Amino acid sequence: MSQKLYIFDTTLRDGEQVPGCQLNTTEKIEVAKLLEELGVDIIEAGFPISSPGDFNSVREISKAVSAPTICALTRAVKKDIDVAADALKLAKHKRIHTGIGVSPQHIYDKLRSTPEKIIESAVEAVKYAKKYVEDVEFYAEDAGRADVEYLARVVEAVIAAGATVVNIPDTTGYCFPEEYGAKIKYLVDHVKNVDRAILSTHCHNDLGMATANTLAGVLNGARQAEVTINGIGERAGNTSLEEVVMALRCHKEIDIDTGINSKLITKASHLVSSLMNMPVQPNKAIVGRNAFAHSSGIHQDGVLKQRETYEIIDPQDVGINESVIALTARSGRAALGHRLELLGYDLSQEELDDTYQKFLALADKKKEIHDYDLLYLVGDLDRMKNQSITLKYLQVTTGTLVPSATVVLKFGDHERMATSIGNGPVDAAVSAIKSLIKEKVILTEFLMQAMTKGCNDVGRVHVQVKCGNRMVHGFAAHTDTTRASVEAFIDALRVLNVTEKTE
Ligand code: KIV
Ligand code: ZN
Repeated sequence: MSQKLYIFDTTLRDGEQVPGCQLNTTEKIEVAKLLEELGVDIIEAGFPISSPGDFNSVREISKAVSAPTICALTRAVKKDIDVAADALKLAKHKRIHTGIGVSPQHIYDKLRSTPEKIIESAVEAVKYAKKYVEDVEFYAEDAGRADVEYLARVVEAVIAAGATVVNIPDTTGYCFPEEYGAKIKYLVDHVKNVDRAILSTHCHNDLGMATANTLAGVLNGARQAEVTINGIGERAGNTSLEEVVMALRCHKEIDIDTGINSKLITKASHLVSSLMNMPVQPNKAIVGRNAFAHSSGIHQDGVLKQRETYEIIDPQDVGINESVIALTARSGRAALGHRLELLGYDLSQEELDDTYQKFLALADKKKEIHDYDLLYLVGDLDRMKNQSITLKYLQVTTGTLVPSATVVLKFGDHERMATSIGNGPVDAAVSAIKSLIKEKVILTEFLMQAMTKGCNDVGRVHVQVKCGNRMVHGFAAHTDTTRASVEAFIDALRVLNVTEKTE
């Protein structure tokens, strides 16, 4: 049987520290419940002394979630520990996470202390936390830049004081994987009571090495990884849960597993991204929009013949139904033929060659080719009439009045108008549009991002729309963000080939 790597999720603490990513208690409970379903072992639910909101969230999550251990962060300060213990009172499994800085920068510059006094404070904090809970984790902040011999003394002292887990954070994301791995190995080899505790990794991504460092730590004996969904976290973020979980799944020879239900990874990524208003970069490993999209002709041909040619992960294993073949100017005949087949066209080789030439000419002008473009290419104008929806007119009222919207859509050669109210101008416009189409569609994700900075910037909107079992994405960008939102929704409807509602 594989060795177990405990997954400690800190999306709701380190992740939530990112400016603009704050969640209210209800939203945090929603995330915590999904983390429980995902199978994480520990949820770091907050830093209770930092605000009444954080205290309340830790308390409510402790009530709402029962399988994972609920953890609360503190400094090595008695008052922090008292408050954390109070917030955790109702948790079925609870852990206090206390700690102090151990690098020269922390000891001398931040804390204006000495190495010996730091060890005393660390031991005192662990012993104090032990009065409340059995499970105490100690973090040696900035261990990445600490002297390893001194770090070993700290680790030994806190384990002797009762720490059950010792966290070795690379707080500034400074280490190289070899360096971080060697640090963990040094502790495993030199701390005489190390077998009485679990060593934990906690890596930041300032140099883009958080996952590599975490894995180096695990390969050298760490048995807990501290991670966040989508790798969100201070500055460049923390190690991402999905990368560690899938890296270990792909490399079975390592024989360490997390027990995470990976099929929920995409769902968790979308939930965190949308609640925190933090778009996932399209090329992000595992959860980026393009992570399973193949756009070059050679790759598309390979994937269509045998998925493993260019995919090391089956998209279904992370909860995606099919890898997306994005048609662009670099797509080959195989991908074009496959997409046309899905649309119901079985072309002869000659017809496919001819369509492919037209496709290349169009793809040179357009970034991505949608299904309705293909219908145009194969000359199915009747079907195209239905699918080719364009926005002809949009008028919204918002402010202190009930938001409302009037839209005129062009379906093929004629126009239809609808008016609706909503909880905002976009919601009103989306309702109006829905009243004009036959299919039942649900807007499941909505992300808006400024292209650069400033209020006169172009807003880029990314939506996800569900229709039956199909989940598609739509995009649009405009200086008018309401218009961009409505255009993005219509873009998704085109991909879905929705049809006009007839009275
Ligand atoms: O990065 C860090 O050192 C931390 C600790 C508070 C665990 O987040
Ligand atoms: Zn951190």
